[in-house]
Amino acid sequence: MKNPVTVTVTGAAGNIAYSLLFRIAAGEMLGADQPVVLKLLEIPPCLDKLKGVVMELEDCAFPLVKEIVATADPAEAFKGADWCMLVGSVPRKAGMERKDLLGINGKVFVGQGKAIAENASKDCKVFVVGNPCNTNCLIALHNATGLPSQNFFAMTQLDEYRAKSQLAAKAGVPVSEVTNMTIWGNHSSTQYPDFTNAKIGGKPVTDVISDTEWLKTTFISTVQKRGAAIIAARGASSAASAANAALMTVKNLVTPTAEGDWFSVCSFTDGTKYGLPAGIICSMPTRTNADGSHTIVEGLPIDAFSREKIDASCKELLEERADVADLLK
Ligand code: NAD
Ligand code: LMR
Repeated sequence: MKNPVTVTVTGAAGNIAYSLLFRIAAGEMLGADQPVVLKLLEIPPCLDKLKGVVMELEDCAFPLVKEIVATADPAEAFKGADWCMLVGSVPRKAGMERKDLLGINGKVFVGQGKAIAENASKDCKVFVVGNPCNTNCLIALHNATGLPSQNFFAMTQLDEYRAKSQLAAKAGVPVSEVTNMTIWGNHSSTQYPDFTNAKIGGKPVTDVISDTEWLKTTFISTVQKRGAAIIAARGASSAASAANAALMTVKNLVTPTAEGDWFSVCSFTDGTKYGLPAGIICSMPTRTNADGSHTIVEGLPIDAFSREKIDASCKELLEERADVADLLK
């Protein structure tokens, strides 16, 4: 039997967590042979609700779950964490952009970044879902003194799946036929779902979908605005699909990526790739190597159309960074 991996999930009594925790506990994220310790963080007013979630987890009698800790103390929650899944954050309401949440949510990631640095395993991975996830992740990174910047990630896997699903429907093929889908930039309405480098059945998307106008307009804006469309329809932001994407991001980050493919995740830029500015958490095409390390896929052609879209999203990330300068050490 392997040693347990400690997974800390914040916002553990919230909507996303309710779709996420049971799947982690069942072994869908780290593997069917990987025991886990679950550490669940909430704010004090939600501890009673969290107790109910813990009771339900217990009532599943998951064989892989070795221990469950439920707490409102970040130090206790992050103690020994190997994976810190930072979900806890206020979601936006209809009419808001995700960056409008920075004033409410940004400061949470100062305290959590510090608590992670002081308590988590020294090579823990930090994965931010709570919005605006890119800049919240940057805040956590700046405050987690001593942890390697390459261990910080934020989520655009949901956007990648949304893009794949739209392309598959347009082409009339199963979604599994769509590969090499990059989301560039920010998890926001400026993100760029890059159809120019994506493939359907191994062929360039533009060979399969001849309606270039649709690709350049409806496709991009549908993906960019899908979160808002779900809020409008459901009266609440995506939860089950977000949980699925969160689980799959971690799975992608721990599993060697299929030959020739990649996945989208936001990570810290070093200023040397694709003309992306240094020091932001930006979504890029990423591969997980056999030794568990991660590589940004290099050498993809970026045409003038793509360049403009990527630059616009990076500009927004730089603006968000400037807005939270007082939270960055
Ligand atoms: P929710 O309101 O149902 O749950 C959030 C939970 O976080 C609440 O239980 C709340 O008490 C808790 N929380 C708040 N501050 C906390 C703190 N400091 N420490 C620990 N817990 C805290 O919201 P949800 O639907 O689960 O969404 C959570 C976040 O995920 C939102 O910000 C949402 O916008 C974001 N989200 C991101 C993506 C993405 O693709 N990156 C997708 C969907 C949702
Ligand atoms: C999403 O993309 O569904 C989430 O980021 C929630 C939101 O605010 O759109």
